[in-house]
Amino acid sequence: MSNLNNIFLTDQVLDLIADSIASQGYVLLDNFLPIDLASSLLTDVEVLSRTEFKAAGIGRNKDNKLNSKIRTDSTLWLTQQTAPQMTYISVMEQLKQGVNERLFMGLSEFECHYSRYQKGDFYLRHLDAFKSQQSSTQKNRRLSSVFYLTPDWQTGDGGELCLYADQKQVNSLLKLAPLFNQCVLFLSDVFPHEVLESQIDRFSIAGWYR
Ligand code: OGA
Ligand code: MN
Repeated sequence: MSNLNNIFLTDQVLDLIADSIASQGYVLLDNFLPIDLASSLLTDVEVLSRTEFKAAGIGRNKDNKLNSKIRTDSTLWLTQQTAPQMTYISVMEQLKQGVNERLFMGLSEFECHYSRYQKGDFYLRHLDAFKSQQSSTQKNRRLSSVFYLTPDWQTGDGGELCLYADQKQVNSLLKLAPLFNQCVLFLSDVFPHEVLESQIDRFSIAGWYR
């Protein structure tokens, strides 16, 4: 499978990604993956979300009570446990390499999770990383990615991603419908963002490069 990945992300696409990140800090990519790979990821997430997902606000961390007021989705970290997950991770590794060659961002580890927002679920405005918060044990998140797997999204279904220029800005820079096979990348410590309340089942893969 990994040889195929060279076709998924052409030099042209990698140039566009790098140029857009350098000039505006984010990039939007339609038809990001071959349709059969996107469809197999959707099947994977639909099956796993019936049994394996955990509420994003519940876990070991002491911040989690707070989390459940901020976000109500449920998640599952991708591993190499299924073929589509393996392929997705290798595509995102290829993207990392392409961006590093062009922008010298020094991106290192990539991690990602599936998310499911059911009717009424949301994620309030937040940053994925804070400037200058870099512990010696864990490198800060540099670049965020969200890949959308919601089939047949229609106006009124909600669950749009809103990106803001800063925490106080009222109008969003970008309001993005979670359209199937669309990917957005943005600098993790620059853009506060939120997920508006969803009216339908909404699936995505959120990922971060440190
Ligand atoms: C996140 C996030 C956005 C989305 O999980 O940190 O911001 O559109 N997700 O799912
Ligand atoms: Mn986020």
